[in-house]
Amino acid sequence: MTDRLGDMRRTHTCCDLGSGDIDTEVVLMGWVQRRRDHGGVIFVDLRDREGITQVVFNPVVGKNVHQKAHGLRNEYVIGVRGKVDPRPEGMINPNLNTGEIEITVTELKIFNTAQTPPFLVEDNVDVSETVRLRHRHIDLRRGQLQKNMIIRHKTAATVRQYLNSLGFLDIETPVLTRSTPEGARDYLVPSRVNPGQFYALPQSPQLFKQLLMISGFDRYYQIVRCFRDEDLRADRQPEFTQIDMEISFTGEEDIMSVAEGMMAAIFKDIHNIELDRPFLRMTFADAVDRYGLDKPDVRFGLELSDVSDIVQSSDFNVFADVVKKGGIVKALNAKGCIDFSRKEIDNLAEFTTIYRARGLAWIKVRDDSWQSPIAKYFSEEEKLALTNRINMESGDLVFFVADQPKVTNEALGHLRNHLGKKLGLIDESEYKFVWITHFPLLEYDEVEQRYQAMHHPFTAPLEEDYDLLETDPLNVTSRAYDMVLNGSEIGGGSIRIHERALQERVFRALGMEKETYEEKFGFLLSALESGAPPHGGIAFGFDRLVMILCSQPSIRDIIAFPKTQKAACLLTNAPSGTTKRQLDELSLRIIKPAATD
Ligand code: AMO
Ligand code: AMP
Repeated sequence: MTDRLGDMRRTHTCCDLGSGDIDTEVVLMGWVQRRRDHGGVIFVDLRDREGITQVVFNPVVGKNVHQKAHGLRNEYVIGVRGKVDPRPEGMINPNLNTGEIEITVTELKIFNTAQTPPFLVEDNVDVSETVRLRHRHIDLRRGQLQKNMIIRHKTAATVRQYLNSLGFLDIETPVLTRSTPEGARDYLVPSRVNPGQFYALPQSPQLFKQLLMISGFDRYYQIVRCFRDEDLRADRQPEFTQIDMEISFTGEEDIMSVAEGMMAAIFKDIHNIELDRPFLRMTFADAVDRYGLDKPDVRFGLELSDVSDIVQSSDFNVFADVVKKGGIVKALNAKGCIDFSRKEIDNLAEFTTIYRARGLAWIKVRDDSWQSPIAKYFSEEEKLALTNRINMESGDLVFFVADQPKVTNEALGHLRNHLGKKLGLIDESEYKFVWITHFPLLEYDEVEQRYQAMHHPFTAPLEEDYDLLETDPLNVTSRAYDMVLNGSEIGGGSIRIHERALQERVFRALGMEKETYEEKFGFLLSALESGAPPHGGIAFGFDRLVMILCSQPSIRDIIAFPKTQKAACLLTNAPSGTTKRQLDELSLRIIKPAATD
């Protein structure tokens, strides 16, 4: 039999009480974290969301209560009434907020019992993520996850407060909508009343926020769920949250300043850190040139050097051929890493294959010679030029990748991040922001054999590049900007196109026929003709930001009910099959996917 709450009322949380409360009568409620039976006396660590308080059952104080406490087990839900006492000399726990006191219990209520949990509710439990996610309601009781959810909540509260104070309006946008192209696959929802037709869940509220500007709302924001069916990674979820905003009558400077102010407010409120402003800025071309990636981690050096001009006429055919075919050869100088073993180097080469590099050449630099499988191919002149370009000094280990620019840059860019971590070059307590600007408007998708928008198709080109839209589209620069924090792309936005004619030119540059863009985006085009103000905006990956604020390596640790790599929820077993009746109502028939072995 369990007890009723009755007239028992909680007076404090499990983190409130200290030496100032000694001798007061209190009522606490929570979960049994641990029970220790010390012969005569029973100690229980009582846990709630805020913390832990030690409660004591002493047979001398209450025989029946002590007897009842014998039955307590981990995760039982209880309420205790008792007196705050100082802990005896030597029993003070400086690691606990409530470590100076304990509650001597006079009344115990057991509100519920609990099955033995599948894992201990403690940080750093050694249990697989699969088991944790299957029992997420228990997993979420762990201190770290409770802390993460609290930081997530506080961050959202700060964001709202900051944007409200600047006159932004929080306006909701539909979830059942049309495709909003952000480069991923759509999640589709069949419409029962329109057989054979589908809604798409929004990849972002992009078009709605532009329409809100056209409607005259001036400044909009929303902390909003977005849906993208894409390959999942440690910082990607199929449904994730954006801090989305849009501003009318504005340019890049305004938006960047609002965004920087928002970050400053968040870091002040959450970590009491004053951020240096304005944030660093770097063009896309510069970022890729120096760091290989358009989301550089600028907390450490190890910058890349382009050596294409030096090696193009060398006897090392791999390098020379790549340059001849329009590729590039770049180097990364791992300073002082000459002692890396063959195995370590092989592992790094293996790592770069993830980014499609076909090889990782290397040179170990000694005072008088180079140790390297490729040293023999270079003339003295080339060696000197490489030494100067890459700043090669005795003790260095230099890596090279030769390939098409995208592959070379990505492989070395990721190798740089990997080495930065491995060599301990990163100060984990640092927060380094950088804006990346001047992105190309379009890129060529080799697989699809067509141009696609680097940001999204509603991003404005630089005015001086308008004429290149028809003649040299790959050289059009856009008015997009990304915010990067510690090597993670936490936000991206742009100044938008607000004139129909220009929007049509960009659709055409993307290879869309008039019928296609009229069918897909006719509503936007006609809105642009109805009195559209100049406008622009940005959206932040709220989950990614919270990940960094909580120093968590996985996005799943800062989402209450996240999905796995296979986009499944292990707690509820979603996605799941459905009944024939439901399928019939939706006019759908399932064709079983062919078995794969
Ligand atoms: P973008 O596509 O760059 O821009 O998205 C904005 C930010 O959202 C985060 N993000 C994700 N986070 C977790 N899981 C995902 N699958 C995921 N995909 C994106 C990133 C990214 O920087 N409508 C535009 C914004 C605008 O132009 O105003 C947009 O959605 O941190
Ligand atoms: P090989 O002469 O083919 O044995 O190659 C010598 C070295 O060049 C090896 O360490 C390879 O990993 C490296 N290598 C081969 N192709 C490339 C490439 N595209 N980029 C960088 N290094 C490469």
